[in-house]
Amino acid sequence: MEQKYPLFGNLIKKQKINGVFSSPPYVGLIDYHEQHAYSYDLFGFERKDELEIGPLYKGQGKQAQESYTQGIADVLNNSKKYLIDDFNIFLVANDKYNLYPRIAKLAEMQIMNQYKRPVLNRTEKDKGAYSEIIFHLKKN
Ligand SMILES: C[S@@+](CC[C@H](N)C(=O)[O-])C[C@H]1O[C@@H](n2cnc3c(N)ncnc32)[C@H](O)[C@@H]1O
Repeated sequence: MEQKYPLFGNLIKKQKINGVFSSPPYVGLIDYHEQHAYSYDLFGFERKDELEIGPLYKGQGKQAQESYTQGIADVLNNSKKYLIDDFNIFLVANDKYNLYPRIAKLAEMQIMNQYKRPVLNRTEKDKGAYSEIIFHLKKN
């Protein structure tokens, strides 16, 4: 981190992060490399499709769910070294396969609360009502 991003890398060594608020991909819903193909083209970024978590092309079967679970848990475990002990993590997820309890277990975190968020006005895909959960996670 210090070599690649010296300013941020040095700051993070002295000062840990209180928390993360993020919207990770949902299992088998969108191919983000495809959705953002123009930006890879425009900026000459190297594509890393095989590292994308939960892409549509892998589907939503058991194997895809397992690789999604491990992928998100790995991200959470990797984040810990940058976080204070009493961190708060909020993740927005459409967890229709109930994967987050196991993700939390693999990341040695506990789900403190789940906030239901109805999504009534979507700009993409269909206009059907849809709901998401915001998971509040803390260290075990
Ligand atoms: C639901 S979107 C949220 C994007 C962003 N938070 C926003 O609101 O615009 C999920 C994002 O996770 C990214 N993603 C998927 N797998 C990833 C990985 N292995 N490493 C980093 N980002 C990844 C996708 O490219 C996508 O941009």
